Amino acid sequence: MLGDKVTGIPNHELSNFMLKEIHEQPSVLVDIIEGRLSRDSNKLELLELNLSDQQLKSFETVLFIGMGTSLHAGMVGKLWFERIAAIKAESDNSSEFKDRNPILNKKTLAISISQSGETGDTLSAMKTAKESGATVLNIGNVEGSPASKFADHNLSMAAGKEISVAATKSFECSLLTLYMLAIKMGLARNSINSAAYNSMINELSKLPKMVTKILETKTQIEELCSYYYKYNHFLYLGRNLNFPIALEGALKLKEISYIHAEGYPSGELKHGPMALIDKNMPVVVVMSSDSFFSRNLNTVSEIVSQGGKVISVVSEDSDTRSNKADNVISIPKSSDLLSPLLTAIPLQLLAYYIAIKRGCNVDQPRNLTKSVPTD
Ligand code: AGP
Repeated sequence: MLGDKVTGIPNHELSNFMLKEIHEQPSVLVDIIEGRLSRDSNKLELLELNLSDQQLKSFETVLFIGMGTSLHAGMVGKLWFERIAAIKAESDNSSEFKDRNPILNKKTLAISISQSGETGDTLSAMKTAKESGATVLNIGNVEGSPASKFADHNLSMAAGKEISVAATKSFECSLLTLYMLAIKMGLARNSINSAAYNSMINELSKLPKMVTKILETKTQIEELCSYYYKYNHFLYLGRNLNFPIALEGALKLKEISYIHAEGYPSGELKHGPMALIDKNMPVVVVMSSDSFFSRNLNTVSEIVSQGGKVISVVSEDSDTRSNKADNVISIPKSSDLLSPLLTAIPLQLLAYYIAIKRGCNVDQPRNLTKSVPTD
């Protein structure tokens, strides 16, 4: 039986693990948030992290390493750490990182992200980071994994078992873990004051309900997919924190539906990808964050004027009159900082329903395995 009370949807509607895991997200988010926020003081406690505030403060650089979905989480992590903890941050693909000559030292905190904890490239990158003097902190989902044993410190993404090859809830949970860690680092480094802290924590407590609200729009997204599933190419665009989400949306689609999909920073469009735009190339524009909304509106207009079709992911309060997108997926309004934790969800559903309508085996896509131990 795939369904249970956790998913909130009846068994007969859950025909595969991917949909089950997508629907488990609100409940695992509740568990993580409740487990890491003390009830009385709203204090963020990452109990298993044996790094003191003094140690967190001593780092000068943070480096994120991972592959695939875990790399995308690390790319968001980099931007959060810059903005929240005001620390120099970089992210890299584990496979590329291990082959270069990285300049790290004792003041570097290398954060590896790996759901399985056995990805060969990430294990090699962790080794390279440690040999270069960095402290290695692993964010993983499997207790006792090779990555957790090798790391100096560990934090669990606490997603629970994930069976589907396509990572969904582990992505969301690794994002949440990184967000909490960025806040913890920000407190240690005094880059956020108590008002900013309270506002972030207050919003975080609403996250599970916001995710539930998005999942409730699945019928609308499914209907959209009845139209879009026949297309063979997609572009995904996003800016800043939502650029890695665009990459993740494209990865999810290609992985389970075998449709060619690419993610780009929105600003890159005119530097090449615009040449691809025509009526056969739907473009998903992730534009929920306020700071970039008007620039994203321009991006949508430019695509439409070249004959392209646009699906835009927007905040429910945004002014849709100036949005020329063919289809709009609305999500709850949030701060820019929190937005990746929301925008990731409709893109999972979009990929899922397109793949289902194409008759694909979403849990076990061809040529792929859940973990890749060889590098
Ligand atoms: C995600 O949907 C993919 N299956 C894949 O990109 C995965 O994220 C990657 O192989 C890294 O796996 P890991 O998190 O177990 O290290």
